[in-house]
Amino acid sequence: MHAWDDETNLFAHSVIGYAIERLRLPKPPHWGAHPAGELNAAIEHAITAGGAGGLEALRLFRDVLMPACRPMDDPMNLAYVPTAPSVASTMFDLVVSACSIFGGNWESGAGAIAAENQALRWLADLAGFPDTAGGVFVSGGSAANLSALVTARNVWTATHGRPERLTVAATEEVHASVRAATRVMGVDVLPVHTDDHGRMTGPALHNALHDHERDGVFAVVATGGTTNAGAIDDLDAIADICTDHGLWLHVDGAYGLAALCSDIARSRFHGIERADSFGVDPHKWLFAPYDSAALVYRDPRPAADTHAQHGAYLDAVDRDEWNPADYAYHLSRRARGLPLWFGLVTYGTQAYTQAVDVSIRNARAFADEVARRPGFELLLEPQLSVVLFAADGWTNEQYLLWSRQRAREGRYLVVPTSWKGRPCLRICLVNPTTELSALTAILDDLATFDPASPAGAPAPADPINPW
Ligand SMILES: Cc1ncc(COP(=O)(O)O)c(C=O)c1O
Repeated sequence: MHAWDDETNLFAHSVIGYAIERLRLPKPPHWGAHPAGELNAAIEHAITAGGAGGLEALRLFRDVLMPACRPMDDPMNLAYVPTAPSVASTMFDLVVSACSIFGGNWESGAGAIAAENQALRWLADLAGFPDTAGGVFVSGGSAANLSALVTARNVWTATHGRPERLTVAATEEVHASVRAATRVMGVDVLPVHTDDHGRMTGPALHNALHDHERDGVFAVVATGGTTNAGAIDDLDAIADICTDHGLWLHVDGAYGLAALCSDIARSRFHGIERADSFGVDPHKWLFAPYDSAALVYRDPRPAADTHAQHGAYLDAVDRDEWNPADYAYHLSRRARGLPLWFGLVTYGTQAYTQAVDVSIRNARAFADEVARRPGFELLLEPQLSVVLFAADGWTNEQYLLWSRQRAREGRYLVVPTSWKGRPCLRICLVNPTTELSALTAILDDLATFDPASPAGAPAPADPINPW
């Protein structure tokens, strides 16, 4: 398993060759989930006592398994929050794996951590955080939210003690991972209303805190780009209230805070510089591969007090330098910030600004086209790169039928959602290679789609592939 011979050499070059092919060639549009039974049968005999060899493993992956995964980086994957990793960051991710770096502490991973910290500093500067800010790359926005909230609770209970109930204030538009974090922590959520644009405002937060028996509220989670609508909460007004009430302000920017590097959108995050912590996922809109989420604290010391793990086997290591393991709930960690760093070094920060701006401009232009076309309604002015729109008279069932049909054909992935209780369509743009003309062609398609025609007729029941 660890020897290097001619067979290993061929296999290693084949793997690199496949990775390059996967990056270079267009993504086959029909890739997507297959039934579990079919996949299980295809790999039933893959693991044997003697081993099938690397080339056979690669063949199985290339021909059977990968085609059963959705290409999340396809330019016409417009659902959820897709991804669009750059060539440099993806290729470097292979190198990160090859180097077996333990990214938990400085003693083991100093070189990698220095680079990760430089990438975190770029983000901290964009947010206007002080020089003393610091953080860590974790696996995703969910892990960032949880780690920040655990720190926030620790800070609050250190001065207020531990009441029977502890509570986080957040809107109904907050990402599901925040509610999941509160369940893990055993704390409550104080609901804060949003305005017509899907944003938390200062007055709404003030009212929620006023109405509530406020004891026990220790943090506010604001969102810098909600998942469903791309809405940016009024961070400055929220920061005022957090300061007045001594509350921790965490800004979940897993998707949207990438636009801090955008010339068009940066000012929309006014107030972010006053947050106690924020998260932003390079694997969403900063062109890095999964899994990479930056968690940045204005003052990292309470995070270290909260999360650092101690034991005789750990404390023997010199802990004076920066140990990323101390700033979130984890110990062993891949240096998952390195692909972002490599992309920044390779292309320069202006390339990031331009690439993010492309999606913001395309979202704006697409929204204008929706508003202009009879038969369509723009439900919300885009604040970032999400557009919510409706086709006149369409029901949720019709959206589902159309969406599933187009996904099966491999034309595009546009999935319905709802806005203020109304079913609608949603696109989320993060890929700078998505063409505006391809987006407007979706409107042409919707305008002529006939659910009663054979092409629009319900497909035979497919047990696993809704989209
Ligand atoms: C605003 C927001 N927060 C958190 C998350 C969760 O991030 P992850 O899937 O990386 O855990 C998402 C995912 O889309 C998100 O959009």
